Amino acid sequence: MKLSLILACGLVPTINGLGQHSLVPTQHERPNIVVILTDDQDLHMDSVDYMPLLKKHVIDHGTFYKHHFCSTAICCPSRVTLWTGRNAHNTNVTDVFPPYGGYPKFVAQGFNKNWLPLWLQSAGYSTYYTGKLFNAHTIENWNSPHPSGWTSSDFLLDPHTYQYLNASFQRNQYPPVSYQGQYSTDILAEKAFGLLHEGIESGKPFFLTVAPVAPHSNVDPFPTTGTPGDALKDIRMTAPIPAERHKHLFPDAKVPRRSNFNPEKPGGASWIKRLAKLTDEVIEYNDDFYRARLQVLQAVDELVEGVVLRLEQAGTLENTYIFYTTDNGYHISQHRLNPGKECGFEEDINIPLIVRGPGVPIGESKVVTAHTDLAPTFLQLAGAKWGWDGLDGSPIPLKKEDFEDEKKSRQEHVNIEFWGRSIPEGEHRFSLDDGKISMSSQTQALRIVGANYSLYYSVWCTNEHELYDLTSDPGQLHNIYPTSSTQPDVTILGIPVSKVLPRLDALLMVTKSCKGHTCVHPWSVIHPAGNVQTLEEAMNRRFDNFYSSVSAAVSFEKCELGYILESEGPQESVVFHEGAGDDWLGNEEL
Ligand SMILES: *[C@@H]1O[C@H](CO)[C@@H](O)[C@H](O)[C@H]1NC(C)=O
Ligand SMILES: *[C@@H]1O[C@H](CO)[C@@H](O)[C@H](O)[C@H]1NC(C)=O
Ligand SMILES: *[C@@H]1O[C@H](CO)[C@@H](O)[C@H](O)[C@H]1NC(C)=O
Repeated sequence: MKLSLILACGLVPTINGLGQHSLVPTQHERPNIVVILTDDQDLHMDSVDYMPLLKKHVIDHGTFYKHHFCSTAICCPSRVTLWTGRNAHNTNVTDVFPPYGGYPKFVAQGFNKNWLPLWLQSAGYSTYYTGKLFNAHTIENWNSPHPSGWTSSDFLLDPHTYQYLNASFQRNQYPPVSYQGQYSTDILAEKAFGLLHEGIESGKPFFLTVAPVAPHSNVDPFPTTGTPGDALKDIRMTAPIPAERHKHLFPDAKVPRRSNFNPEKPGGASWIKRLAKLTDEVIEYNDDFYRARLQVLQAVDELVEGVVLRLEQAGTLENTYIFYTTDNGYHISQHRLNPGKECGFEEDINIPLIVRGPGVPIGESKVVTAHTDLAPTFLQLAGAKWGWDGLDGSPIPLKKEDFEDEKKSRQEHVNIEFWGRSIPEGEHRFSLDDGKISMSSQTQALRIVGANYSLYYSVWCTNEHELYDLTSDPGQLHNIYPTSSTQPDVTILGIPVSKVLPRLDALLMVTKSCKGHTCVHPWSVIHPAGNVQTLEEAMNRRFDNFYSSVSAAVSFEKCELGYILESEGPQESVVFHEGAGDDWLGNEEL
């Protein structure tokens, strides 16, 4: 407890207590890695443009990955994916609360004994974490068990995680400390600076994650009636609370009015199609909510500068990779949705990733990357031997040479999946006339960004489908999936949608339950000869008969709150056998 307080005041944080800390730079062969992980930060509503210090210290010195995606657009599952390198269908941490998610489910799945910080420690790194780790990591269960693998840590704990003015932190073996009345991100910044100092002093390369709650909504503790279903009724997620010094900023900022902002015609699938148009009153509330998000990001912006300046002062900035990202994206008023995430739209899945560090070129990258790729990226930077088994991603190209190599060979798809419900935030919740407070958003989907196409394909647990061609429809307003009543006369790469769909179905069948290598190279399951690596290659006419004979597509028996295999329909992938003659084509089940 004492140590936490000392750190909170930004005083000498030497863990050895010798007080003889020198700031002599230590030259490590291997780089340090600093991850700044915000919560619910959007890319599509321009939040990053309101962070001048992030621009000055990170964006202007590094690469902005414009096609970076989270695979599951909600906090805890997405964070478990980050720190285990596995898709949610392989962690089975699919929700924020037990029984399907949260910290207890992470522990029950065995990951507290098998995750990134432990792998980095075996690679000789000192490891540090401060801020929000997972949901349902609380002032009650913080020590049963304690998260493993951190040399030093200072976690934000539920139920106070999202209280901007009443945070509880828990440092190393010490019990939680309440910071009632203090500003969460500022306390976090001091803790981050302390841990950074420990890392610099540790004499080893270090890995540090700093995870503020901003710009997540503010959530005061809510009474629970025992089951997570009931808790949703009581949970109130309101606009985030900025620090006093930032409350006056951006008085005119509003949610950008792009094509999908509160559109004339409802779109999407399932309940999204039934949303009523937002009223002027709701739009005004949502704009205020948006402005509050920009304001709370200012304290994060200052934290970024603090981290970079301290690295510079210690002479170690040039040997440190800084990753700036978030757990998932966010929407406000797009598609008539009130503030929230948990959907498959670009606003929720396409998120900021910015990296600066040795050899990282300055500019923007269009390579397709996902949160599953970050653990492999860190392991590669650390030269780690352990931890690679069964990871669902591949290292992100960071250096100029890597970009050249990856241009041709890197995957073009991201596996997008979601279980459970959408829970709108703010005071207005759903604009549905039946007053529902949550609706199932369970989907299996693919985002594909090729040289000549940009597609989103999803199957909902209601067996509704969506297909958007984002090249012509970036707002995802026109579902081009044919239905019995509509047969849109559209083509992709000049080929009718009816011929593209079986290819997408076959691919989705692989990615929805892929593991390790097959997540990175899913076409290799369907085309074991290795001659198909992209949708464009799969479009070859010689495969037409094969794909038109494919009958088993992704479908669901019913919507569930978790990953219940029996409700998820067919699981078998199809395989194309070369050499059976170009005309005929076998369709064999695995
Ligand atoms: C603030 O946190 C403390 C404990 O950490 C708790 O007892 C108190 O009820 C909280 N206050 C509010 C307003 O939620
Ligand atoms: C796809 O784009 C590449 C260049 O980006 C071009 O060479 C190729 O012909 C295109 N293919 C199709 C089918 O349009
Ligand atoms: C995922 O976890 C839930 C809850 O424990 C369990 O019911 C389900 O069977 C698990 N799913 C798989 C595919 O293991």
